[in-house]
Order: sequence, then C-alpha cells, then structure tokens
Amino acid sequence: KKGLPLVNKKVLVTAGPTHEAIDPVRFISNHSSGKMGFALADELASLGADVILIAGPTVQLSKYKSIRRIDVLSAADMLDACLAHFETSDACIMCAAVADYTPTIVANKKIKKNESYFNIELKKTTDILKTLGTQKRSGQVLVGFALETNNEEDNAIEKLRKKNLDLIVLNSLNDAGAGFKNDTNKVTLIDNALNKTVFELKSKTEVARDICVKVIDLINK
Ligand code: C5P
Repeated sequence: KKGLPLVNKKVLVTAGPTHEAIDPVRFISNHSSGKMGFALADELASLGADVILIAGPTVQLSKYKSIRRIDVLSAADMLDACLAHFETSDACIMCAAVADYTPTIVANKKIKKNESYFNIELKKTTDILKTLGTQKRSGQVLVGFALETNNEEDNAIEKLRKKNLDLIVLNSLNDAGAGFKNDTNKVTLIDNALNKTVFELKSKTEVARDICVKVIDLINK
C-alpha cells in the first residue's frame, strides 16, 4: 500500500438507487445499477484509500475486501450513514441516484386494490450532497454527479455552485452508452474554477480512473 497516492485518505462513496417504501411490499425507485459507484470504490481502494461505500439496493459487488460497505435502503438511511462518516472523510463522491421524493406515509399493511384510482402523496427527501456541502470544511473535497437531458453544462454548473462542490461529473442521457445500466459512460468533469474536461465514451472502470486522477489533484491542492 505504501507509496500509493491515497494512503491514509478516507473517501466516502455513495452508489446505487434508493428504495422509498409505499407499504411492506412496494417501493418507489429508479434505474440506477450502482456500477459507476462500485467502479469508483474499487479504483479508490486500488489507489490506497480507506473507502466507505454506502450502497443502496444493488447486486453489485466490490473487488476489494478493504472496502467497508454499508448497505442502506432509503434516502433517509443514506443521509444518516453519510452524516456518520462525513466529518472524518477527506473526500466524498456522491454517485448514488437518491430518490427526490418519498411517500409521506408508509402503510403498515399491504395496500388492497379496492379503488380504481389511488394517490400516493410524496414529500421531498433531504438532498444529501447539498447537506454535506453546507458542512464542508476547508481541505475536504466534495464531488457530485449530474445526469442531465437538456442544458447539460449550465445545469451541472448550477449544481456545482448550489451544493458547494469541488467537482461535478456530468453525464448526459443524450449520449449513447452513457448513464444508468451500461458498462460504459461518457462524462465531462467541471471543477469549481470551471475548468472543463470532456472525455470519450469508455468503460466505467476507466471513467472511475479519470475521476480519481482529478480527485487526487484536488486533495493535494
Ligand atoms: O440535484 P441532483 O439530484 O441532480 O444532483 C445529483 C447529485 O446530488 C448526485 O451526486 C447525487 O448523488 C446527489 N444527491 C444526493 N441526495 C439527494 C439528491 C441528489 O446526494 N437527495
């Protein structure tokens, strides 16, 4: 491990979707596979980092035994796990597709299909990344993802500012092979000085490597 660039650095990574319960058998979720976050956790571990991987429900497995994986279900659980580890982290890479809304009430018994129409009231979840952004100390590096379908760069820069990030990883659903379930991704990195790097379509492992190079750079600044 000696000599690796991230030795003695604690890095928090979130990955995967969240499940927001409707009743004991149903939930609201999204298409996130967790592949990008797990690729990041593996890459960080290979660079010597102490990795805490906070994972929503996913079938992904990490390659390194050294990675400490914490499994969570809901956005609220993910927030708690992140808050428990943020203060002692040198960097956080928030790759999870956290639900933006969650049911206001969770039925304690399976809901019966008696009605023709059925409404579920939702309330906003806490934005984990934004919360960490308000708690960030100087020297801590905070990285977010932005999956956009239109006005990609402007939206990404707005998120970078609003959430007090050091780096945002933009992936567009308009690029073939990018986003959700693919083993490949095409990203643009934008740092808080608005330096922009556009990368080619590549494997998520290679994308993780590109992100880590930038993160090491930011940690050492
Ligand atoms: O605002 P938007 O959801 O597009 O921002 C995406 C980024 O914010 C991702 O890095 C995601 O992990 C993070 N996020 C979060 N908590 C939320 C929503 C998004 O950490 N509730």
